[in-house]
Amino acid sequence: MSQGNEREPLIEAEDVQVSFGDHKVLRGLSVTINRGEVVCLIGGSGSGKSTFLRALLGLLEPVGGTIRIFGVDLLRADESRRAEIAQRMGMLFQHGALLGGLTAEENVALPLLLRTDVSSEMARNLARVRLAQVGLGHAVCNYPRELSGGMQKRAALARAVVHEPSLLFCDEPSSGLDPATVVAMDELMLRLRDDIGAALVVVTHNTSSVCRIADRVVCLREGTVAADGTVDEVRALGDPWIDGFFSEDRAPEQRGETMAEALGLVPMQVEGD
Ligand SMILES: Nc1ncnc2c1ncn2[C@@H]1O[C@H](COP(=O)(O)OP(=O)(O)OP(=O)(O)O)[C@@H](O)[C@H]1O
Ligand SMILES: [Mg+2]
Repeated sequence: MSQGNEREPLIEAEDVQVSFGDHKVLRGLSVTINRGEVVCLIGGSGSGKSTFLRALLGLLEPVGGTIRIFGVDLLRADESRRAEIAQRMGMLFQHGALLGGLTAEENVALPLLLRTDVSSEMARNLARVRLAQVGLGHAVCNYPRELSGGMQKRAALARAVVHEPSLLFCDEPSSGLDPATVVAMDELMLRLRDDIGAALVVVTHNTSSVCRIADRVVCLREGTVAADGTVDEVRALGDPWIDGFFSEDRAPEQRGETMAEALGLVPMQVEGD
């Protein structure tokens, strides 16, 4: 559901460069993401998708380029400004990252408990509301080990949105889930997007999910943007990797995390330059 003419950029990344030692992972990545948009980030394993999300979250420092979030230059903002921005973002990590020693309710309440302006009772109440929304109203007292993989993902999604972020990042929300749960996760993300009015950036290898939820697809390759457009626009480019991604003779619901491997796309390493 894009916002037509009333585009309000929430993320403006320009020429972003990230290196790990000599390994240049992002090599001048530029992309703009607007309020209310669902942008699916695709690309081979190791192409830098998670790294880009981490840079947007302020978890790692680019060596070059600019990132403006909510109009603020992230790399030049002071600590308190960065903390303010961080509070307006939510993240569903690639591996869920629920804390094993906390119940589902405590896990979901965590982003609110870290704030001084929300009481612990309010945080727990809001956590229960979000858990009910993701179909886990009955499991608020369960520990992560007592939840199935799909339930853990849904709990992690509840945690990512409990503070009503304006920007929600989801790193492979459907990996390892059965087809019905993938559809349910997609619907949940869209509902939460509508509910909160956030922009969603979703990293996924799941073709069906992309077709269901994406307003725009951004394809990363060799640390830069290889394609950026609607599903139809990027499919029309005739790019072999994108053609492979969308090819219909694969079982898309089954691909999950292993799809990149199925396409022979791993690892996409750029060595020593
Ligand atoms: N903290 C780190 N230290 C060193 N290298 C890293 C670090 N994080 C990522 N990399 C390297 O950066 C490259 C991109 O990694 P990234 O996790 O962003 O890939 P990805 O596109 O998310 O892949 P996948 O689809 O497998 O999750 C990889 O070669 C990886 O080894
Ligand atoms: Mg990743």
